[in-house]
Amino acid sequence: MSEDISRRLRLAEQVAREAGTKALDYFHRRETLVIETKRDAQDVVSIADREVEMLINGQIAQAFPDDGFLGEEFGLQAGSSGFTWVVDPIDGTSPFVNGMPNWCVSIAVIHEGQPVIGVIMAPCQQECFVSARGQGATLNGKPLQVDPARTMQNHVTGFGANSYVTPERVGEIAAGITAAGGNFFRNGSGAMMLAYVAAGRLVGYYEPHMHAWDCLAGYCLVNEAGGWTHTFNTAGEHLLRGAPVLAVAPGAKDDLLRIAQL
Ligand code: IPD
Ligand code: CA
Ligand code: CA
Ligand code: CA
Repeated sequence: MSEDISRRLRLAEQVAREAGTKALDYFHRRETLVIETKRDAQDVVSIADREVEMLINGQIAQAFPDDGFLGEEFGLQAGSSGFTWVVDPIDGTSPFVNGMPNWCVSIAVIHEGQPVIGVIMAPCQQECFVSARGQGATLNGKPLQVDPARTMQNHVTGFGANSYVTPERVGEIAAGITAAGGNFFRNGSGAMMLAYVAAGRLVGYYEPHMHAWDCLAGYCLVNEAGGWTHTFNTAGEHLLRGAPVLAVAPGAKDDLLRIAQL
């Protein structure tokens, strides 16, 4: 079992770096990209997202043909090995197409419903966050650990929102964090902000609705860095449906759960 995970971990990091390089190449010539919309005018996508997902999918299918694969752009291909790769080729497409460096490649592997690998590559910063269940979390090879002394009151809390969420909820969350004596932060890439919780740059992250490809790599990182994550159901159709996402250092857990009403 641990060898199964180690082999996949090596590939996950290698593919995340390669995918990051391909995405960065598109980022440098983003003026040439045709920007399309999906659910609404804020939900954007381009050929970069699709090409990067195809690169990742191709390499994984070649190395592990019996594994399942779920990507944001092309959906689910079921597997038979018990391992499923859950991939967001570019998380933070809005910052990406608008010329901001807050975007990343997010690759998770799930087994028996749990994320067992989480890799997040942020090419503009050349930061690679790597984790595997029971093996800890690292940033560019350096171990990560959340700080138990950090609270909502002495640190910054990330939150996100998208078109699945009512405007009232967005206002309530921002007001809740502020009323608790905290400060809120959003950079347009939920996956990157989850990696930042693992790295101690944010004390926690909450978003009322995200998909599996947005959060599972970050969840693995946060858990392995000693943080707490709200359960994300990956069974059957739940894997495609999305759910609330909350990841937090222990000192801010009660405050963030209360504000999130979870
Ligand atoms: C989005 C980003 C954003 C979050 C949204 C996600 P995308 O992913 O993570 O920060 O608020 O919920 O959908 O579309 O850029 O991959
Ligand atoms: Ca998207
Ligand atoms: Ca995403
Ligand atoms: Ca995406």
